[in-house]
Amino acid sequence: MGKALRLEDKVAIVTGSGAGIGKVIAQVFAKEGAKVVGASRRAVNGQPVIDAIVADGGEGIFIQCDVSVESDVRNMIAKTIETYGRIDVLVNNAGVNFMKNFEDVEPEDWDRVVNVDLRGTYLCSRYATLEMLKMGSGSVVNISTVHVHACLPTAGPYDAAKWGIVGLTKSLAVEFASRNIRFNVVSPGTIATQILDDVIAAAPSADDVLNWLNSNIPMERPGTCEEVANACVFLASDDASYITGANLYVDGGMTSLLLSKQRFELGALEGKER
Ligand SMILES: NC(=O)c1ccc[n+]([C@@H]2O[C@H](COP(=O)([O-])OP(=O)(O)OC[C@H]3O[C@@H](n4cnc5c(N)ncnc54)[C@H](O)[C@@H]3O)[C@@H](O)[C@H]2O)c1
Repeated sequence: MGKALRLEDKVAIVTGSGAGIGKVIAQVFAKEGAKVVGASRRAVNGQPVIDAIVADGGEGIFIQCDVSVESDVRNMIAKTIETYGRIDVLVNNAGVNFMKNFEDVEPEDWDRVVNVDLRGTYLCSRYATLEMLKMGSGSVVNISTVHVHACLPTAGPYDAAKWGIVGLTKSLAVEFASRNIRFNVVSPGTIATQILDDVIAAAPSADDVLNWLNSNIPMERPGTCEEVANACVFLASDDASYITGANLYVDGGMTSLLLSKQRFELGALEGKER
């Protein structure tokens, strides 16, 4: 007997599905039996992802949508209902970031990040929830980051938006618990995406960067997009029926580490009784 599909017949919207983690969430959700609505800002990325899912025997549609624009979000929800008649799952994955000294963060920089990462999560959650309420069930998974455990310098707007996502998620979790709509967070650590490849390629020594990154991860490697997607499948599925308001770190132990492992390799704390 084949393995039961964990998202069989569920209609799942995945935002930012054109690249990186969102692309793999869309692919893994389709393999788990979901009808995937891939929503992304640019069709040139987003459409081929859905075309490949359909060519592979899965089901899905692409809808062009900037999650920070209310009319785009309303159109995405309306097209999903028109096509599939329901929304079971929403994954708020679309996100942008930049690293900039706070003195140089202009109001328009702030607005760009907060509008996509936080307002986008609010808008998609609001309009999807209105449909989920009609069905009496639903599951929303919001993608945050390990920055909600401890922050990096020069990422103020991103970190503010991602902490905001956790607050919004927990508030909605308690507001909708009795109405059978669950809200949870997945917080990835360092994940192997094109962006990480670009950072490593641009560094004077790729090995040094990778060794430094890995020294901050107990599992000594970046995570894969599949590993993030698997956590999303779990929280989206009925296997997580009693879980709401949770923040699940997918980080190879990063947020449990106090000091970089390199310190110990340097022998700084060796042999000292404390
Ligand atoms: N890559 C990592 O290591 C990492 C770590 C922690 C958290 N995250 C989070 O995971 C999510 C995905 O990150 P990624 O690395 O895959 O990013 P990415 O840049 O590779 O992909 C993001 C996708 O979102 C889309 N997008 C951007 N703005 C949009 C908008 N306004 N409306 C709709 N779609 C939009 C992009 O077109 C792209 O397809 C983000 O929320 C990010 O903050 C990533």
